[in-house]
Amino acid sequence: MRVHAGKLALVTGASRGIGRAIAERLGADGAYVIVHYNRAVEEAEVTLASIRSSGGQGILVQSDLAEAEGANVLVSRVTSVLTTQFADPRLDILVNNAGVGGGAPFADATPVDFDRTVTVNLRAPFFVIQGLLPHLRDGGRIINISSIGTRAAFAHMAVYAPAKAGLEALTRILANELGRRGITVNAVSPGATATDMNPRARDPKTAQAVASTIALGRVGRPADIAAIVAVLASPDGAWITGQTIDASGGQRL
Ligand SMILES: NC(=O)c1ccc[n+]([C@@H]2O[C@H](COP(=O)([O-])OP(=O)(O)OC[C@H]3O[C@@H](n4cnc5c(N)ncnc54)[C@H](OP(=O)(O)O)[C@@H]3O)[C@@H](O)[C@H]2O)c1
Repeated sequence: MRVHAGKLALVTGASRGIGRAIAERLGADGAYVIVHYNRAVEEAEVTLASIRSSGGQGILVQSDLAEAEGANVLVSRVTSVLTTQFADPRLDILVNNAGVGGGAPFADATPVDFDRTVTVNLRAPFFVIQGLLPHLRDGGRIINISSIGTRAAFAHMAVYAPAKAGLEALTRILANELGRRGITVNAVSPGATATDMNPRARDPKTAQAVASTIALGRVGRPADIAAIVAVLASPDGAWITGQTIDASGGQRL
């Protein structure tokens, strides 16, 4: 039997990159996956097709998490999927993966950059969790995708890293609050991973220089991160909570 058979999962930002790999992995492991996306509908359809080709099931749900109402829109669309399609409308796994990189160094960051980066990376997960908590099954899993930018100083992450640090703090608070329901809450912090967000890691011409800062000698692949999320989401992850798991192959140790 597949490890996530019968489970219901939501993965935000699952149209591309790490989120797609997480959705594919949970789907291949038997979960029904709600694949969230914002703009990349065709890419999200590729994710869903890939889940189906491995024998899994899922559905697409759109919302713009940079909008003030984006988290509420997502919550109401997910709630509608749960209540209309499932006799037992309970979510088992919530992965807050959608994110935007903060490209600006401290001196250049504008209030617009700040608000957008904090909204997508921190405010949205906060209100998505709050809104979906009544639908989360006791014994469920919340996994927040952070970044090693919270422990290493990268100049261009002056807004992004503090937003992710807030997400890690929220992770600990919620782990404490939800533990009596058997719900675990953890953060996973990727290092440089080859996706659209990280062109230096994705481009073979620059990836080697990035890899030279990583103990395991290569940049991350989205599937590396998905494997860690899959363990945390599984029954074997039941005794890990309130933690930030480094998923960088040992970058900048
Ligand atoms: N790649 C790295 O090196 C790295 C390192 C550390 C941490 N991370 C974290 O890992 C997570 C995934 O990153 P990635 O590298 O896979 O990024 P990516 O390839 O750029 O994909 C980002 C995903 O987030 C969604 N998203 C972006 N803005 C959104 C918005 N306003 N509303 C709703 N969804 C939105 C995108 O949806 P659409 O495509 O549909 O617009 C897409 O699915 C992020 O939280 C990121 O901070 C990445």
